[in-house]
Order: sequence, then structure tokens, then C-alpha cells
Amino acid sequence: MAAMTDLQRGDFGDEFTWGVAHASYQVEGAWDADGKGPSIWDAFAHGGGRIRGGATGDVACDFYHRYETDTDLVRELGFDAQRFSISWPRVLPDGVGRVNPAGLDFYDRVVDACLERGVQPWPTLYHWDLPQALQDRGGWANRSIVGWFEEYVQVVAERLGDRVRDWMVFNEPCSFLVVGHLLGYHAPGVRSLRTYLAGTHHVNLAQAVGARVLRATVADANVGTTHIVTPMTTAGDTERDRRARASLDVIANRIFWEPNLGLGYPVDDAPLIAGIDRYRKAGDDEDVRVDWDFVGVQYYQRQRVLSWPVPKLRGIPLPRKDFRRYEITAMGWEVQPDGLYESLERWHAYGRIPTLIVTENGAAFPDHLVEGRVHDDRRIAFYRDHLAEVRRALGDGIPVHGYFCWSLMDNFEWAEGYDPRFGLVHVDFDTQARTVKDSGRWFQGFLGADAT
Ligand code: NOJ
Repeated sequence: MAAMTDLQRGDFGDEFTWGVAHASYQVEGAWDADGKGPSIWDAFAHGGGRIRGGATGDVACDFYHRYETDTDLVRELGFDAQRFSISWPRVLPDGVGRVNPAGLDFYDRVVDACLERGVQPWPTLYHWDLPQALQDRGGWANRSIVGWFEEYVQVVAERLGDRVRDWMVFNEPCSFLVVGHLLGYHAPGVRSLRTYLAGTHHVNLAQAVGARVLRATVADANVGTTHIVTPMTTAGDTERDRRARASLDVIANRIFWEPNLGLGYPVDDAPLIAGIDRYRKAGDDEDVRVDWDFVGVQYYQRQRVLSWPVPKLRGIPLPRKDFRRYEITAMGWEVQPDGLYESLERWHAYGRIPTLIVTENGAAFPDHLVEGRVHDDRRIAFYRDHLAEVRRALGDGIPVHGYFCWSLMDNFEWAEGYDPRFGLVHVDFDTQARTVKDSGRWFQGFLGADAT
């Protein structure tokens, strides 16, 4: 698709929020500083052999010590908002009970650093770093976690709620439940259909509990959550293809969205998830409902599916890429900007979400730092083409109110370690030097922050 050269900030309206995103384990480092407890990602990374290059988040971008200068960059590039996540074990080292004052103080300072610079703080309460102490008690598979989560959200909301209005309860349940609990190549490294199903139901309940605590504690809270949207495609469109697509769509998408919308579990389209009934109790269908103020749509790629007569599954995800038709990122993902439009349209079609925000979108490419510059033209084209799709959605009446780039800076990309670079800002992980890439400068110009 041709890059849209006529894109203007004004096309998105004056009230549109422009932000950057990052997450605790991926940037903070300081993994055991000032009373923080270990998370499942600390344990997974230290366990060895499961992360490319043996990487860990022990130091990452050292955001724990550099949050002020990193937030200076957010302002310098012209963004209005910074999405970060809160590390549960930094606040409650054992997951419940004893609060770590130094951990809460850190997020207090991050919030103040944002506000002092005119940047809105957008925290996410859970971006995958569960306290290991709770994993030792069964983690997301243990229904008690709904109450543990409630306690954690209460502590954070009471401390930050006087200054933070915009909250996200979870980041991409699909990713940590499918990849961490069903496929096992993210923390906690579990491969079990039962754990995926139990965990999914408990996360869905925790979404609702988290939203209720925020509403009860924070005056005028704007409460949302984020979901990755992965549109499924098949080469053909036979009845078998449709059934295969529908099944995978439930397993990766709808199972995490629809219970909160009051639509229940779409078991008919995916017999594989029928076992989730075992974890549902009387009253859950009501308790799981949430009236979101907004949903954060996160889009990276479509998924190819092959219809396959696997019992109960009906189809399998295909790793095959079409190099002839699509550009491929450093993650091996096909670049298909119109998939972002499709993802927004799909959420809008539920007719129950007043506001959509793109809370993540971005790409990793092989960047090269040469003489103090990173000429990442492919990333600039990626953003332009995706923003053009957001503008198209707005033009078609889809209420998109913001867009957050993933990510402010290169960081720890989970099982892929530090190789894939997603940042608008390059990070030298030996020296912690930051260098704004051409894509960062492009945003600075687009957002009108280069005038002074
Ligand atoms: C989604 C996740 O929220 C984020 O942590 C990750 O780095 C990006 N996708 C890129 O894979």
C-alpha cells in the first residue's frame, strides 16, 4: 500500500490522544531493587534456556533510574500521553499482604514526572509480571487470584488515583494466557489446556473486579483494558475454512472479550474451549460483566489458518508468510495496515464500547545506528500507513480517540530478548545511551513539536 503523504495531525481532531507505550518488565530493570519481589518473568528468565541469547530483564532500559530523562523524550517528541505498566511484585512483593512503600513511591514519581512535563500518565495494572509468590500458589489457575488482584488494584488506585484518570486493567490477556499457559514459551512456561481455560475465566473475572475497584476508588476514572486483535484468514472460503477461522478466532480473540461484554463464552464455534464450564460458578455470568469506558485495541498482524480435521480444533495456525505480497518485520510478521481498520471496525460492531483507543501498534525492523542516526524509513512508512487506516476508521464513524506507538524505546521483547527493536528511540544496551531514530523525529514533526 502506498504511504499516505498527506497525513496531518489535524485529521484526527483536537481531542485525539497521541501516546507512546512501554511495560514494567520490558524497561524498568532494577529487578530486585528496594524491596521488589520476584515476578514470574524474573524466574523464567533466570531459569535459563528459554529466552533468545539468554537475555533477562534484570537491567533492561534501566527506566527505574532513568524515568525522568525518558519522560523528557516523550515530551520532546510531542506526545501527550505515556502508557506504562505497574509491576505487581514491586508494590506487593508477596503478591498480597505487605506493601512495599519504595515500590509504590516509584510509581508515584513516574506519575509526577509525567504530569510535570504535561504528559498524561496511562497506567496498565497487569502487563504479565505476576508475583512469583502467587505463581507458587497456582497463579491464574487458582480462583483465589481474583481476590488477590482486587487487593493489589485497591492499593495502587488509592495511591495514584488522585492524579491518574486513565487506567487499563490488563494488557493482552490472549498473549499471556495462550503463549504463557497453553503453548508455554512465555512465563510461567506452562503447557496445559486446563490451565489456559481456568486462567482465562479468572482473568475475565479479574477484569471486572479491577474495573469495579477503580470506579469505586478513583473519582471520574476512565476505565478500560487492552486486547490484541488478530484477524484470522484462510486461503479459501469453504465451509471448512470458515469453521477453522471461527475456532481459532475464539481461542485467540473472543474468549477474552465477550464474557466481559455479557455475551458468554462462544463454545459452539470452538469445541476446544468447552471445558471452561468446569471453572464457572453460579453468578459468574453477571459478575464478569464490565461497562468499559474504552477498549484498547492492539494490532500487529493477521494470522493465517489452515483448515485441518484436528478433533475440536478445526484448524491450525500457519507460520507460512507470503513474502511476495507483504513486507515482513523482524518478528516475522506480515505488514497489513488494513488489518488495523478491520480490528477497530470489529470492536465497534459490538455496539457496546463508547470509545476505542489504539493502545499499541508498531514494528520491529533491523535498525542500524550509524554516526548518531538511525534511518528507519520502513518504520516511518509503517506508522504512516497504519495511521491512514485509523483516519479511515474515523471517517467511517468509528470512535477512535487515541493512538499509542509501541514503543517509546527499544526494550526487552520477551522470549525474543533484545534483538527485535520496536522503539522510536534507539537504546544501546551496553551504555544505556538513547538516540532518537528518524521515526521519532518524524513523529515530532507530525505532532508539531519540532517548531521550537
Ligand atoms: C504486545 C505486548 O503488549 C508488548 O509487550 C510487546 O512487546 C509487543 N506486543 C510487541 O510484541
